[in-house]
Amino acid sequence: MEVMEAIRTRRSVRQYAPEPIPAEKLDTVLEAARLAPTACNYQPFKLVIVKDEATRRQLVPACAGQAFVAEAPVIIVGCAFEDQAYQRQAGSMSSFAIDLSIVFDHITLAAVDQGLGTCWIGAFDEQAVRDIVGVPQDVRVVALTPLGMPAEDPAMPPRKPIEELVCYEKWE
Ligand SMILES: Cc1cc2nc3c(=O)[nH]c(=O)nc-3n(C[C@H](O)[C@H](O)[C@H](O)COP(=O)(O)O)c2cc1C
Repeated sequence: MEVMEAIRTRRSVRQYAPEPIPAEKLDTVLEAARLAPTACNYQPFKLVIVKDEATRRQLVPACAGQAFVAEAPVIIVGCAFEDQAYQRQAGSMSSFAIDLSIVFDHITLAAVDQGLGTCWIGAFDEQAVRDIVGVPQDVRVVALTPLGMPAEDPAMPPRKPIEELVCYEKWE
């Protein structure tokens, strides 16, 4: 699949078939994550792949009660080592959230290529997620996503026109 086709057809999927994902598809998605760029190539992240149904169900209340998260056969918990990331991003900040976001973008687009759905989950209780999957206290949880066969075909949500999002040479 062409990159632009994956970008155009990716949707946030909030209904999943319960069937497990073929191992090769999961491996391909994770390889896309591994190849993501990170500041200074520090690769300050770790993904927890949750397949266990009881653990998935536990994650629902930690994700603001979003029940569809546990419908998918896999949940990816995106974790980052804040201290190990590049510390001078834009002069003074850690790049950990940016690094992890790029990793997740690779995941969501590679998933489309594999016929799989994802949905970025940003509404979650970080400490509750840490406790459920055993993430150390000094490691940040940046995002989660369910991963599975889509059981819906969402319409393209509206986007702003390009003129509103882009200007040339100077701010206008
Ligand atoms: C940082 C971030 C956090 C998000 N958190 C949630 C979430 O907690 N639950 C949810 O259902 N969707 C969440 N989304 C998905 C957005 O609602 C979705 O990307 C947006 O509405 C556009 O739809 P699309 O992904 O289908 O293009 C999140 C997306 C981003 C980028």
